Formats: sequence, structure tokens, C-alpha cells
Amino acid sequence: MNDYENPDFYSRKAKDEGYFARSIYKLEEIDSRFSLIKKGMKIVDLGCAPGSWCQYLSNIVGDTGLVVGIDYKKILVTAPNIVIVHGNFLRDYNQAEIMTHGPFNGIVSDMAPDTTGDRLTDCFNSSDLVKDALRFSYDHLKKSGFFVAKIFQGGDEKAIFDEMKMAFKTVKWFKPKSCRKISFETFIIGMDFTGKPQLSEEAEDIMDVDNYSGDMPW
Ligand SMILES: C[S@@+](CC[C@H](N)C(=O)[O-])C[C@H]1O[C@@H](n2cnc3c(N)ncnc32)[C@H](O)[C@@H]1O
Repeated sequence: MNDYENPDFYSRKAKDEGYFARSIYKLEEIDSRFSLIKKGMKIVDLGCAPGSWCQYLSNIVGDTGLVVGIDYKKILVTAPNIVIVHGNFLRDYNQAEIMTHGPFNGIVSDMAPDTTGDRLTDCFNSSDLVKDALRFSYDHLKKSGFFVAKIFQGGDEKAIFDEMKMAFKTVKWFKPKSCRKISFETFIIGMDFTGKPQLSEEAEDIMDVDNYSGDMPW
């Protein structure tokens, strides 16, 4: 087993480098591959606790940029260029609070549903979170903006990919090597936002919080 395959490698590295979570290396790999995040940008970080993505984003966007993070779990990160919304992203009032800081250059989501033990349910719950993040992005991303989301493979990812092709010039799948080998998560990346696509009524429906089958914290 080499260092990268050791399950503790990235956790130890994060601790040594002062990051709150090993997830930082997933975003770092995505960014070094696609060059998304730049000084002065305004970026939303969905599912940001404990805060390693916020740490990374805050360092790059600098004091002329802004990071708006949301999570219902405890968020540890603080910085002058980070605004935290503590709550559930699926709630309209929390989205309304985020959008007061928009429009945004990028929206990133590391949101993961609480797992149920049933892989199919977990995958579709993950897909639903991505669709919710996408619907928000369509209304609050600047032209040419980007979207990054974690998604569990085995749900509605094909439909999500097809939908994103209508809204972004380029759409890619990317699995960072820092994802745990056994994990079925991957990332979908949309670049060069062109505008909100025409969605079917069925696709629009997913936005309704009451249709969400995962556990709702509140
Ligand atoms: C893998 S963790 C994120 C780690 C984070 N990117 C970091 O680097 O510290 C996934 C997070 O998504 C959050 N989450 C899932 N669904 C959410 C929702 N509907 N609203 C807000 N946060 C959500 C969870 O509470 C959890 O903290």
C-alpha cells in the first residue's frame, strides 16, 4: 500500500496543515485540474461544516472576495471574508439569506445526505441534494460561473449530467484520488454557465422540500 492508499494519509495531512477536514484535498484537486477559483470571487459553499473547503476558498478569494457557507452542523471556520449561514440549505429562508450576498462566481457543494444503509435510497437522496443546489445555481450564478457538486454514483446522475449540459458550456465528471477508495462518491463540474435551462415540470418538482426522502434536521 502506498501513502495515498492509506486511509489515514489525508486525515493526518489535514491535521498537519491546519485544515478542519480531509475533504480539503478533494477541492484542491478539483481546482488544480480545472482552475476554477480566483482572487476576488464570491463563492457559495453548501454543506460547509466543519469548514475545510471554506478555509481553502477564503485563502484564494482573499480580502476582495467572499465565501458564503451553509450547514446545519457545527461550523468551526471563521475569517473576515467568510459569512456563515447556520441551517438547512433546503429551507427557502436560508436560501434567501445566502442570495442577499449574490450573484456568485461559483457554487460548490460537498453536501451529503445522512446515510440510511440502503445504497439506492442514499444515492437518490444525494442526487436530490445536487438538483436542489443546481436549481439555486441557475438563479444565482453569474454568467460564466461554475458549479461543483459531490454526488453518490447509483442515483440520478445521468439525468443531472444531461440537464447540466443545457446550462454550462462544459460538464465533467471527476473523482479526486483523495476520495476514499471504497466510497461511491464522485464530483460533477459545470463550467461557463450560460443561463437557466428550460426544465420539465417533473424536474422542477424536486425542489419541493416536502418531497425530500432523507432525514430533515429541521
Ligand atoms: C462531507 S461534509 C462537508 C465537509 C466540508 N466540505 C469541509 O470541507 O469541511 C457534508 C456536510 O453536508 C451537510 N449537509 C447535508 N445536507 C445539508 C443541507 N440540506 N443543508 C446544509 N448542510 C447539509 C452535512 O451537515 C455535512 O456537514
